[in-house]
Amino acid sequence: MSDAGADVTAPREVSAPVAAPLALALIGTGGVGRNVTRLVRGRPQYRLAAAYSRNPTHQRQDIGSLAGGGPLGVTVSGDRNSVLEAGADVLLVATTSFLSEVADHIEAGLAAGMDVLTTAEEAAFPWILDEALATRLHQAALAAGRSVLGAGLNPGFIFDTLLLTASAIAWDVRSIAIRRVVDVSGFSATVQQRLGIGFTADEFAGGVAEERITGHIGFPQSFHLAAASMGKSIQRIDKAFEPLLAAENLAGASLTVRAGTTGGFVQRYTAYCDDAPWMSAEFVAHVAPGSVGCRTTDEITIDGYNGLHLTLDPGCQPQLGTAAMLANVMPRLREAPAGFITVADLRIPHTRPSSATFD
Ligand SMILES: NC(=O)c1ccc[n+]([C@@H]2O[C@H](COP(=O)([O-])OP(=O)(O)OC[C@H]3O[C@@H](n4cnc5c(N)ncnc54)[C@H](OP(=O)(O)O)[C@@H]3O)[C@@H](O)[C@H]2O)c1
Repeated sequence: MSDAGADVTAPREVSAPVAAPLALALIGTGGVGRNVTRLVRGRPQYRLAAAYSRNPTHQRQDIGSLAGGGPLGVTVSGDRNSVLEAGADVLLVATTSFLSEVADHIEAGLAAGMDVLTTAEEAAFPWILDEALATRLHQAALAAGRSVLGAGLNPGFIFDTLLLTASAIAWDVRSIAIRRVVDVSGFSATVQQRLGIGFTADEFAGGVAEERITGHIGFPQSFHLAAASMGKSIQRIDKAFEPLLAAENLAGASLTVRAGTTGGFVQRYTAYCDDAPWMSAEFVAHVAPGSVGCRTTDEITIDGYNGLHLTLDPGCQPQLGTAAMLANVMPRLREAPAGFITVADLRIPHTRPSSATFD
């Protein structure tokens, strides 16, 4: 609220409210769940309350130790109900990319009285994929008086929060182009295989045809979120998906890529509005970008009157950027309107103080 017009001769007494830490429950203790744990453990504004994993090797471990630090006194449970009943404020669902696979966790979290944040890329703008399911989840959120949000780094930040924020200085937007070169070597073998890493050209083509190999998921969601925010209507989205075969063996943390198999891929998406290209994306993902002459980068070009070209160099580190974005949107989610919302409905997220040091 603006202070314009306030009586400056009568200073107000402002006592900052002492807020209780935001209590967080996790479903999924993979890379995202563990990195968020690492991040919030040093922040007094957060308290990790409970964690669920279906993975028997994670169950019964302390989540702090599993995440690579000292114990936090929270044991990873294989009983989802016990995690739902832990009295947390926010439930983070970090399991898969698919709305249908996180829907039950979302509904259970809402029924338990929590705001729900999920990294499922399809949840960033769910109406374009399954309007009936999105509406059901929206109604469940309204009935619970809570919010549901799909977010992360991409979708969530680069194509969305950052793009929309950058567009704030544009007088008009004729077209948008985003280019990312991403090092995907830090993802789990499950995520890398779903992306399309480690396959021969034939296996890659077969996997794409059968939709087992998807590449990065979330371009249509990000495009529609941008279009809805900027008053555009997308007619169609063209896409291309090409493998990048490794010339030599590439040893990664999760997978070793053999020479002749996919070390990465390129995706190109173009959304058309008013019979012309309006938003495009080139996405190069690789376990060793340097081996194909690339370095990581994130570039946003807004063509229009007072448009801009924004470059992040080096490009955003996917695991670290995702964990930070998730932690930083949680307080925004707590104050957001009820319903299935998007990052465009949030106040600007920003970092919070931390007592931890990282290396
Ligand atoms: N929006 C974004 O910017 C963004 C950023 C990062 C990740 N993501 C997405 O978020 C998801 C999680 O990422 P991650 O890096 O944490 O993956 P990950 O390291 O593979 O971990 C996923 C965890 O979820 C568990 N899981 C998988 N399917 C499940 C299900 N149906 N029910 C319960 N648990 C399940 C897995 O159990 P097991 O160990 O038993 O397999 C694993 O522990 C991925 O789909 C990824 O694409 C999105």
